[in-house]
Amino acid sequence: MRVLIWFPVLLMVACGGAGTTTPPDTISPELVTPTPQTVLPTPVASVVPSETVAATLDAVERGRALFRNKGCIICHVNNQVEGQTGVLGPIGPNLTNYTNDPEFLRRWLADPPAVRPGTQMPNLRLSTAEIEDLIAFLNEPR
Ligand code: HEC
Repeated sequence: MRVLIWFPVLLMVACGGAGTTTPPDTISPELVTPTPQTVLPTPVASVVPSETVAATLDAVERGRALFRNKGCIICHVNNQVEGQTGVLGPIGPNLTNYTNDPEFLRRWLADPPAVRPGTQMPNLRLSTAEIEDLIAFLNEPR
């Protein structure tokens, strides 16, 4: 009688215990791996600012390159840009220490004549990304 009672139990253990010993590769990763937010709130929060600083520096450097490549240097003197600037006169204001409200600059760089009819600064058909980079460059703290 004892053997008959234990037999099914032994059979279950031998067959893998009815799911109690699932092989590791069948456990779905999201059940085992905690999401970064729940485990590392402080490190994640402290990493973001330095990445933001790096992204801003990139934008500043891209803006500096655009200032040359988009021809701003022809009309504007800017000592933050290598080489000769303001070659054409200069006909625009010196932008070396120029900063301004990003909202104004977004409208200005997108379409100067729309902001100030009759201005000599043309619409240079800049993309939104180019405008953001140029603003980062112009407003760079120095
Ligand atoms: C063809 C010449 C010309 C080119 C090219 C040019 N600008 Fe200008 N820019 C001007 C002139 C002229 C003004 C003065 C606008 C006015 O008051 O009518 C000006 C004004 C500005 C101002 C000051 C706006 C204000 O009133 O505060 C900024 C900023 C500026 N330009 C940025 C740029 C940038 C960035 C580029 C390149 C993407 C560029 N400009 C290309 C001629 C030019």
